Amino acid sequence: SWTMPNYVDQAVEKIREQVGDEEVILGLSGGVDSSVAAALIHRAIGDRLTCVFVDNGLLRLNEGEQVMNIFNKHLGVKVIHVDATAQFMGHLAGVSDPEAKRKIIGREFVEVFQAEAAKLPKAKWLAQGTIYPDVIESAGAKTKKAHTIKSHHNVGGLPETLNLKLLEPLRELFKDEVRELGVALGLPHEMVYRHPFPGPGLGVRVLGEVKQNFCDLLRRADAIFIDELRAADWYDKTSQAFAVFLPVKSVGVMGDGRTYEYVVALRAVQTSDFMTAKWAELPYDLLGKVSNRIINEVRGINRVVYDVSGKPPATIEWE
Ligand code: XMP
Repeated sequence: SWTMPNYVDQAVEKIREQVGDEEVILGLSGGVDSSVAAALIHRAIGDRLTCVFVDNGLLRLNEGEQVMNIFNKHLGVKVIHVDATAQFMGHLAGVSDPEAKRKIIGREFVEVFQAEAAKLPKAKWLAQGTIYPDVIESAGAKTKKAHTIKSHHNVGGLPETLNLKLLEPLRELFKDEVRELGVALGLPHEMVYRHPFPGPGLGVRVLGEVKQNFCDLLRRADAIFIDELRAADWYDKTSQAFAVFLPVKSVGVMGDGRTYEYVVALRAVQTSDFMTAKWAELPYDLLGKVSNRIINEVRGINRVVYDVSGKPPATIEWE
């Protein structure tokens, strides 16, 4: 009968057969799919897997450290941590159009990844965390002519010029199976059941031009929101929740003084397919607590608003 431990053994065996004694490279994003793929391939071939984790400066608070802790320290996976923040920020300077930002972020990722791959000439395989729904989606896109509202750059991202064979051990699995597999492989529950995070990251959550200090403020506000959602047992009752940085200033009062600072919007939605979504009816006391904490703890933000827009007509992300 089918059990997860049997499945792990079979999947490991299949990877060993495919790869033989060759080496594999994988772009680790910290998301569920690439994380589970990395853990599985590491189980199969150990040190012949090298992961490349690109910090584009658009990640959540402490995300880089968390990924390095789990994979490198805890699981013993070889991970190259590339801090490419300056490169990404440089190319994003002066750009405010959402699709233009997505293109730049996608393009720079490929460039950084390719440069790292070039340093690993022994790697003959490129591993990707493609899951079954991605396979169906891209098959549909090829035949139907994709109707793109937003370009999702992380689907089929890396170019063929890398000249590597593709290793996609999750191609037959649905998301819930990928999560179960991740838990069976020893990944923390919190990582495996994390809300989805878009490839362009905070690049589409800082509205308009992306600036390093806006990202820093947003990271801190977002972490407070997520902390309080978890503490109130609301994290798992929402499908996605995050803060958005609005580059507009409004007036506030603090002590005897007047402030003139930026605004953060909170977004929390419930959905089963992310095609339609309703805004989450979070309790007022939870929203109040999050607002107080952000305004008190994040100097530079003096106003917090809650997004009560459904999808459609609004999208989940603001850009
Ligand atoms: P929207 O905003 O279109 O989002 O309602 C639906 C889901 O897709 C995610 N999303 C993205 N994911 N690259 C990604 O990898 C992107 O450019 C992108 N844009 C939106 C969004 O977070 C939500 O889960």
